[in-house]
Amino acid sequence: MFKGDFQMNKFIAIVGSNADKSTNRTLLQFIKRHFADQAEIELVEIKDLPVFAKNSERTIPLYATQLANKIAESDGVIISTPEYDHSVPAALLNALAWLSYGVHPFVNKPVMITGASYGSLGSSRAQAHLRQVLDSPELMARVMPSSEYLLGHSLEAFDDEGNLKDPEKVKLLEGLFADFEAFVRITAQLNNTQTQDEAIANDFSWEENK
Ligand SMILES: Cc1cc2nc3c(=O)[nH]c(=O)nc-3n(C[C@H](O)[C@H](O)[C@H](O)COP(=O)(O)O)c2cc1C
Repeated sequence: MFKGDFQMNKFIAIVGSNADKSTNRTLLQFIKRHFADQAEIELVEIKDLPVFAKNSERTIPLYATQLANKIAESDGVIISTPEYDHSVPAALLNALAWLSYGVHPFVNKPVMITGASYGSLGSSRAQAHLRQVLDSPELMARVMPSSEYLLGHSLEAFDDEGNLKDPEKVKLLEGLFADFEAFVRITAQLNNTQTQDEAIANDFSWEENK
């Protein structure tokens, strides 16, 4: 989409929960509204994906293909993760498994991680695990370094309209979002290994024991 004379970035925002009620979804809905002048953000859900299972044809569900296409066509991805048992929810790992099984939409894709949790740490342990997962050979995303957006006590963090109550949290998000837009521009120049990286991801097979 064009705004004035510049083309807005198009971001896909993955809701990292399969629950009907999720403060991570509320956070992404807030981000979409708050930055509507700066980027076109589409929220996508992972709750309708079946449980991942390898199969001899290496096929993936139609919905996973549609998600992969949206990610591949986007300028970047925002993932908001809850924290379950100090890690990433199974539903989010499940989605990432489908999105790395014969399809490689994340290769060199800029990713910003956010997260919300009921406790005080704001999903910090889940976010650290998510970074590690996104670095695997069939995902190979470019996760924005040295940045975390940790929304602790997330049940109390939003008002009735779904807006973040704490102005400091909004300010921090604005800074990180501006950094992410810069990171997307910089990442576009880090393309000297793009062809090889895509080939590595395509050729990679855990079954050949490489
Ligand atoms: C099985 C289970 C495990 C959880 N583990 C954690 C945890 O390790 N750390 C935490 O802060 N909250 C934990 N929670 C509470 C919230 O689900 C969690 O804070 C989550 O990030 C909230 O995000 P949501 O509003 O998007 O569901 C857990 C909840 C469940 C049901």
